[in-house]
Amino acid sequence: MAQTFETVGVVGLGTMGAGIAEVFARAGLQVIGVEADDAALDRGRGHLDRSTGRAVTKGKLTEDDRSVILGRITLTTSREDLADADLVIEAIPEIMEFKRGLFADLDRICKPSAVLATNTSSLSVTAIAASTSRPGRVIGMHFFNPAPVMKLVEVVHTVVTDDGLAGDIAALARRLGKTPITAGDRAGFVVNRLLLGYLNHACALLESGLAGRDDIDAAMKLGVGLPMGPFTLLDLIGLDTSYEVCEVLFRETRDRRHAPAPVLRELVTAGLLGRKTGRGFYSDAEGAPAAEGDRRAASVSTVGIVGAGPEAAALVAALDGAGFKAVVAENSDLAPVGDADVIVALSDRPIVELAVRIPHPDRLAGLHLVGDDVAEVASTVLTSEETAGAVRDLMRILGRTPVMCGDRAEFVVNALLYAYLNDAVRMLESGYASAGDIDTGMRLGCGYPAGPLEMLDAIGLETVRDGLRALYAEYREPSFAPVPLLDQLVTAGVPSIREYAG
Ligand code: CAA
Repeated sequence: MAQTFETVGVVGLGTMGAGIAEVFARAGLQVIGVEADDAALDRGRGHLDRSTGRAVTKGKLTEDDRSVILGRITLTTSREDLADADLVIEAIPEIMEFKRGLFADLDRICKPSAVLATNTSSLSVTAIAASTSRPGRVIGMHFFNPAPVMKLVEVVHTVVTDDGLAGDIAALARRLGKTPITAGDRAGFVVNRLLLGYLNHACALLESGLAGRDDIDAAMKLGVGLPMGPFTLLDLIGLDTSYEVCEVLFRETRDRRHAPAPVLRELVTAGLLGRKTGRGFYSDAEGAPAAEGDRRAASVSTVGIVGAGPEAAALVAALDGAGFKAVVAENSDLAPVGDADVIVALSDRPIVELAVRIPHPDRLAGLHLVGDDVAEVASTVLTSEETAGAVRDLMRILGRTPVMCGDRAEFVVNALLYAYLNDAVRMLESGYASAGDIDTGMRLGCGYPAGPLEMLDAIGLETVRDGLRALYAEYREPSFAPVPLLDQLVTAGVPSIREYAG
């Protein structure tokens, strides 16, 4: 018979634990929140007060409902108070020794039928389960930050989990208003395995000097429609957690893409953990970036465009509308643009080959228009600062957010996006997760507008495959080489990976 859960213990009331306690209480369950000492308990109470207070301020909750919800949560520093709980979920720091100690304790304290769950994002659920005398009753129940908002719960079963338990926990997740996906106990499960590979890649691009923090964040938020750029999200997740997840992923996959970027280690060692400490990639003390004017474009009258087709025509029209003279040249004959004040080459590939064919290579920048809002502006080693600045300002005049970057394969957006899509295909190919679970995981766990396989279908398999080939040729990073499944689908002319996956 399916197990029911009415009283739930939450151990650890940091950002995640407090959020999880709130979610259970909102769904009508009795919650026992446990912290190590009074000071930590006060901080936990503070999280709960702020989160529900915000909902009241926003008119999403009445004061009375708030009191009812908070009234369902009992706070204590004694683990012994968990003796009658039907389920205990732990959200303490990601240190295996701590978790194993806690689970051994819970095993002693809790009634035999109780389920012991971990919210770990990086550690092995199997290893945690092995510290108890009831490994069949231990399971992963992985929430996403902020827990009251993100709709996904990953239910992680091990090889020894009792039959039916994953289904009972999935049913509980639904009762909480969440959507569960079920996964086996592999590093990073579904979402973090894909997410942290991408976030770590963003760190690597930052460290390589390809583009700056704000440019990369703007590129992914505005160019792909993600709710946050990678560095804002890393700060939200916590750089310590992010580092740990990467470390565990790397240990399992030995994929260099998962080896935590040195900048993460440096920030973590310095105690700059992101939002929870007030400073990570961003700092609370930082003001909003100053609005920049269109200074440099003032010195430009003629803009050369290397390109063809509707994109070039639309750019000519837009520049014309803004009072600039646009001249166009095709790749085969660059003479018409030779003397323009600045020259932009519409391209999603490096443009330095063009630069060496024109008389003023310092005046050339690459331009990759992403959607309706973003323009990647690529400087070669020959591009002058004046040119880069002028093109940046021209893009602002045309209503696009410029993303300044180096002249490398796939620039910023596609470099990050395609590598992430390739990882998703690799996961599908390995049989670890279904196409539906992969897409649901990223949509509901991270608030993405679409899952990676949906994105892949929308962009086109061949475009992504070719982009990955270009990335691999440029960086020689093994994990950028298109996954065989992707290559084969393109070769076989299959237009949709989701249809293929059924
Ligand atoms: N607690 C409770 N509610 C919160 C909240 C919090 N910490 N932060 C935001 N909210 C609520 C707001 O009250 C608001 O609610 P309403 O719509 O009911 O008014 C809603 O969320 C939207 O918030 P905002 O308007 O303030 O801000 P936003 O539109 O920028 O959204 C966001 C904020 C929901 C966090 C959004 O940016 C987002 O989805 N970001 C992606 C977060 C993500 O990827 N999370 C997963 C990280 S990975 C992870 O957690 C797993 C791991 O193991 C590492």
